[in-house]
Amino acid sequence: MRRILVLNPKGGCGKSTLTTNIAAYFASEGRKVAIADLDPQQSSFDWLSRRPASAPEIRKATIHDGKLDAPRQTDLVIIDSPAGLHGKKLASFVSSSETMIMPLMPSIIDIAAAERFIEELYSLRELIKRKIKVATVANRVREDTLSAEKLDSFLSSMKLPGGKKLPFIAMLRNSQNYVKAAEMGLGIYEFTPSRTSHDREQLQPLMSWLSSSRSIPE
Ligand SMILES: Nc1ncnc2c1ncn2[C@@H]1O[C@H](COP(=O)(O)OP(=O)(O)O)[C@@H](O)[C@H]1O
Ligand SMILES: [Mg+2]
Repeated sequence: MRRILVLNPKGGCGKSTLTTNIAAYFASEGRKVAIADLDPQQSSFDWLSRRPASAPEIRKATIHDGKLDAPRQTDLVIIDSPAGLHGKKLASFVSSSETMIMPLMPSIIDIAAAERFIEELYSLRELIKRKIKVATVANRVREDTLSAEKLDSFLSSMKLPGGKKLPFIAMLRNSQNYVKAAEMGLGIYEFTPSRTSHDREQLQPLMSWLSSSRSIPE
């Protein structure tokens, strides 16, 4: 079973939005998808409870004491996580998955916090007993204030403590489509096609990466 963790210690950066959109995308591709919502705010499970019966099914999974409990035959679990994770608890969350997606809002403050967070992850590598692939997604990018190219080159230059670059996979604009789709328990891919073509285009590199072996550790 494939596990994808959506994590960033900061609240409001788009963890639940990405969790539900990734889940809806793979469910609409015919995969058996479950969401584990480990955030006490339960935004992803609330979204599931609004999901219409006609939409491709997404089921609930749980994790207790590090043990994942998913419905039978699930092939993909997306894990939504709470804000404020650090230290041992962070290490145990990260150890739950092969792939980690980190949504990031494109402000200097958030990017600096994300760099420190990646440093913390490196410092915890003794506790994280598996290889994991990490990618960042810039979310809520306001196309009028910061040119996409500028942000792209800035994020691409973010260095990891080991000198490697942080893989930066997709850039998503700030759009009411995310808010409206979420209100209906849907993902962007399931929402008014004529209005969401730009958003679907922006999400595509993320979905392609998640579908490929590039997002799975060797
Ligand atoms: N790209 C986006 N465009 C517009 N609104 C967004 C976008 N991403 C997230 N939001 C909204 O921002 C708020 C916080 O996002 P959420 O996914 O709940 O963050 P987190 O789970 O990290 O706390 C929500 O109201 C959500 O609908
Ligand atoms: Mg959330």
